[in-house]
Amino acid sequence: MSLAHPPVLGTPLSASAVKVMLLGCGELGKEVIIALQRLGVEVIGVDRYPDAPGHQVAHRHHVIDMTDPAALRALIEREKPDLVVPEIEAIATPTLMALEREAGLAVIPTARAAWLTMNREGIRRLAAEELGLPTSPYRFADSLAELRAAIEGTTGEPGLGYPCVVKPVMSSSGKGQSRVDDAAGIDAAWAYAATGGRVDSGRVIVEGFIRFEYEITLLTVRARDADGRIRTHFCEPIGHRQVAGDYVESWQPQAMPPAALARAREIAARVTDSLGGCGLFGVELFVAGDQVWFSEVSPRPHDTGMVTMCTQHQSEFELHARAILGLPVDVSLRCPGASAVIYGGLDARGIAFEGVAHALALPGTDIRLFGKPESFQKRRMGVALARADDADSARGVAREAASRVRPVAGR
Ligand SMILES: Nc1ncnc2c1ncn2[C@@H]1O[C@H](COP(=O)(O)OP(=O)(O)OP(=O)(O)O)[C@@H](O)[C@H]1O
Ligand SMILES: [Mg+2]
Repeated sequence: MSLAHPPVLGTPLSASAVKVMLLGCGELGKEVIIALQRLGVEVIGVDRYPDAPGHQVAHRHHVIDMTDPAALRALIEREKPDLVVPEIEAIATPTLMALEREAGLAVIPTARAAWLTMNREGIRRLAAEELGLPTSPYRFADSLAELRAAIEGTTGEPGLGYPCVVKPVMSSSGKGQSRVDDAAGIDAAWAYAATGGRVDSGRVIVEGFIRFEYEITLLTVRARDADGRIRTHFCEPIGHRQVAGDYVESWQPQAMPPAALARAREIAARVTDSLGGCGLFGVELFVAGDQVWFSEVSPRPHDTGMVTMCTQHQSEFELHARAILGLPVDVSLRCPGASAVIYGGLDARGIAFEGVAHALALPGTDIRLFGKPESFQKRRMGVALARADDADSARGVAREAASRVRPVAGR
């Protein structure tokens, strides 16, 4: 079942309810759920562990292994949602494709998009080989010997050379990813990739290193106009800084020369058109001068886009909620701002946060504590947000606010 256009919204927990199932209930899923709750949508939150952030704000929640095809199918058949919204990559997406085909299940943005983007190979081949978009040079390898050949070359075929970046084909947040600067680093990169992949497929992508000046997330929304036609909207570019493949701060807007911005939008439009459906996408791009490279895309809100909770009239989560329901969107910027990640800093359950009042005493700041039941040193537990007259000042304030929050052992 899918929603008619224009949609008719209902009353949760009644026969008229519009029911949405979120597959993934982390900090991003939690905010999508809150946005849907505000529109009177009945929300079913699913994650692999109990008390996930989104579970705490959904009407109902379930704990299943979402990579298990039978468990995923059984839950969808039992709950009969109007829409299924994948919020993470580690899902049995072939099951979603089968249900879409057999039973007309509506998957956001489409089951194929969820499937293609969960594997770096799927989206990279689509972007570079089918659409002809500029990307880093790349190869795939299934063994250490293949990886060495991809980097060093073989007789008759030059390799990618150094530096290069090795990543498991199925991983996110920089897990299992490393930069290789010389032949001595190849073994370690292969071993590290094996530890970080979601599914130990043993397959990696190796990419030539792009010397970009800065990288952006271009939030791109495919939403229906009043006449029902799907139109593409672009948020202001978000700049961000990654450490070991994981985002630590982001800001909006990122200033860009007009030609680079036009190119970025063109690339984002090509990729999202090809993935299809309705919803918000996080298109990751590298930029140097007027040159733009496509890196990857999330067919859902993006972690670096949390900054939009203080910078836009409609955050990326509200935009996603509206777009998937078939409602009109407004992507305009309200004011410049920034986000800075608050890490757990300790390994413990039920931690506490000191210094929140001190952080919020900084003018123009806000905070989200995700409510994750367990903290790890490098687990993202919250985010500080700051608005200011310009993105640079906002970055300083957001970082200061994040540093004032001190995770400590709970009582
Ligand atoms: N080919 C490359 N050249 C230069 N830098 C790169 C390259 N590939 C990745 N990086 C750097 O590493 C970061 C993470 O890479 P990528 O987005 O592919 O990994 P990820 O695990 O999907 O991360 P996330 O899930 O946080 O988006 C990039 O944002 C960029 O800063
Ligand atoms: Mg990325």
